[in-house]
Amino acid sequence: MEENLKIPQHVSIIMDGNGRWATSHGKPRLFGHKEGAESLRACMQFAVEMQIKYLSIFAFSTENWGRPEEEIQGLWSLLLESINKETSYMIENHVRFRVVGNLEELPEYLRIAIHDAEEATAACTGSVLVVMLNYSGKWDIVQAANRFAEENPGKKMEWADMDRYLATAGIPDPDLLIRTSGEERISNYMLWQTAYTEFYFTDCLWPDFRKPEFRLALEAYSRRKRRFGKL
Ligand code: FPP
Repeated sequence: MEENLKIPQHVSIIMDGNGRWATSHGKPRLFGHKEGAESLRACMQFAVEMQIKYLSIFAFSTENWGRPEEEIQGLWSLLLESINKETSYMIENHVRFRVVGNLEELPEYLRIAIHDAEEATAACTGSVLVVMLNYSGKWDIVQAANRFAEENPGKKMEWADMDRYLATAGIPDPDLLIRTSGEERISNYMLWQTAYTEFYFTDCLWPDFRKPEFRLALEAYSRRKRRFGKL
C-alpha cells in the first residue's frame, strides 16, 4: 500500500474521546487530555515524516466553555506546556505553528505564549501545524460576513470573498478530516471549508490514535475517488 499512498495537502483532526479513555482507565478526565497531547505529538511527527503540508486540530470549540472550570484551566496549562516543550522541535523540523480562532477570549498568558511560538516559527517553510482554538464554524462564517460588510459597504459577497475573510484564510480547505472515538458528526467545526473534504471516522479514542492509526486513515483516503461534483 505504501507506494500507492496519496498524501493529502491538508489533514484536519477532531480529536475526540479523551474523557472516555480516561474513564476506561479509572483516571480523571485531564489524564486523558494529557495522553491526547502525546497523540498530537506523534501525529505531528508523522505529518512531518509524510510531508503533509497542513495538519490542523480542533483543540477547543466555542461550546467547550460549557465544561467545568477545572477542566478548562487544565487544558490551557496543557497547551502552554505543549507549546513550551514542542517549539524547539518545530523549529528544528521546519514546522510553522499557527493558532486560529477567537483568541480575544483566552487568558493573556496563553495569548502571549501563542504569539511567541507563532513568531519563533514564522520563517519555517515545512509543515504547518494549525491549532483551532476557541473556534467554531458558525463563529467563523459570521465574523467573516460582518468584516466583509464593514469593509465593503453595499457589495454582495462572492464565494471567494468568504474564503478571504474566514479566519482560515490562506490555508487550503482540508482534504481529509479524521474524527476519532466513533462519533460521526461535524460538531460546528470548519463548516464552509469541508464542503468537499473526505471524512474518516474511527472508533479509536484519541489517546490511542498514533502513527499506525494515522497511516490507516491515509490508506483509506488513498482509496477514495474525489470527483468534486463532476464525473
Ligand atoms: C475531546 O475529548 C478533546 C478535547 C475537547 C480537547 C482536546 C485537547 C487535547 C487533545 C489536549 C492537547 C491539545 C493541545 C492543543 C496541547 P473529550 O474530552 O470530548 O472526550 P469525551 O468525548 O470522551 O468526553
